[in-house]
Amino acid sequence: MSAELIDGKQIAADVRERVAAAVSVFEAKTAETPGLAVVLVGEDPASQVYVRNKGLATVKAGMRSIEKRLPANASEEEVVSLVRALNADNAVDGILVQLPLPSHIDANRVINEIDPSKDVDGLTEASAGRLLLGKQGLVPCTPQGSVILAKTVRKDLGGLNAVVIGRSILVGKPLSLLLLAENCTVTMAHSRTSNLADVCRQADILCAAVGCPKMIKGDWVKPGAIVIDVGINRIEEDGKSRLVGDVDFDAAVERAGAITPVPGGVGPMTIACLLRNTVIAAARRRGLADPEL
Ligand code: GUN
Repeated sequence: MSAELIDGKQIAADVRERVAAAVSVFEAKTAETPGLAVVLVGEDPASQVYVRNKGLATVKAGMRSIEKRLPANASEEEVVSLVRALNADNAVDGILVQLPLPSHIDANRVINEIDPSKDVDGLTEASAGRLLLGKQGLVPCTPQGSVILAKTVRKDLGGLNAVVIGRSILVGKPLSLLLLAENCTVTMAHSRTSNLADVCRQADILCAAVGCPKMIKGDWVKPGAIVIDVGINRIEEDGKSRLVGDVDFDAAVERAGAITPVPGGVGPMTIACLLRNTVIAAARRRGLADPEL
């Protein structure tokens, strides 16, 4: 039997639509429009595309996009000064510093300059700490999107065994904490985990965030499991270049209950959740209740 496909493109479109509705409600209450500032340092081609897409999606959701560009040779102090100016600007509700930054700049320092109330990427130490402590804060976008996708399959994840493979700061660690907050029993697996295949076979929810093409084999998937594949890997196959996930999709789809495709699974959720965080940040900064999302 073939698994249900979790349509990340459609679910992300639904999230963006709810964000746009929340923006209208926000504007009616405050006569203001939420604003998202994206900082790009240098001319990395991939980053330029990401920043452009984020700006377009922001405007499409009815919000203001503020794009700030600095040359590749900008000093760390210049980037920090820009972040401080955005912190002080009341018309800015969210700040995202596009990564990677040029190697002469300490990305950790720059990120931690962001006012946590505007940290729509959820990457500051303050945001990470709040997530760990179970306090209200802004949650990193890709893990947030992953949980939203899993919950479209099963509204209540409580009591399920979740296995997260990968312990990165951007995805694996925050995703584990979010699943814990959903009352899952969470196993954090990684490159040093013994008997990884057996660990995976215990998973009712299997999340792969390792950055290794097709590493998770079909027979590692518990029959009926929800499989969330965060990986996006470009490979050459049969003389063609294509994107694949961390999961061997063709085999896993025969055992899973539901599975995210790559592309079109977790990927589209990241920008949708960035917009979601921006309208949430805008509301909280004005002491309003969280928007209905
Ligand atoms: N570069 C690639 N992905 C991301 C992301 O999610 N946030 C930031 N700030 N930079 C990125």
